[in-house]
Amino acid sequence: MSEPVRVLFVCLGNICRSPLAEGVFRAKVEAAGLDRAIQIDSAGTGAWHVGEPPDPRSVAVGRRHGLDLSAQRARQLTREDLSRFDVLIAMDASNRRNIIRLAPGGDVEPLRGRLWLMRNFEFDDDGAGDDVDVPDPWSGGPDGFLHVYKVLDRACDHLLTWVRAEHALG
Ligand code: 4NP
Repeated sequence: MSEPVRVLFVCLGNICRSPLAEGVFRAKVEAAGLDRAIQIDSAGTGAWHVGEPPDPRSVAVGRRHGLDLSAQRARQLTREDLSRFDVLIAMDASNRRNIIRLAPGGDVEPLRGRLWLMRNFEFDDDGAGDDVDVPDPWSGGPDGFLHVYKVLDRACDHLLTWVRAEHALG
């Protein structure tokens, strides 16, 4: 079997959005029988929460939708991640800027075709996503986490379709 496709979700703290994205995407990949073909991870651009489990509000909204995030632990994005992963998905434009800043020389060129915003994959009926950022739910209430879940659920469907086509996974 050929090398797996490596997909990394990135947010700021790696405790709210990207762990949920990892859980949502993993469930879709497993349902498609592609868990050996696609490897999934998440990381934060910041170091404040390294080693911590996901925020209880992300764990709760995940659990309500059949996802178990409890084994995840936060880690900080490294420069090696930028070359190791085939697909890098930033939750918002500021995460995307921080990813580019971490690249050698701040050069976006080697990331072209691999670095995307999560909401690039949230198409509506016109085929285009209108919103740029998955909003940071950290300082808000539980509604924000449910909203994030719904955005991720829609976007990860299209992301999986795209990864399958791009990497000829059938
Ligand atoms: P996340 O949310 O980036 O979705 O994990 C945040 C978590 C923690 C902080 C900010 C955002 N923080 O400032 O500690």
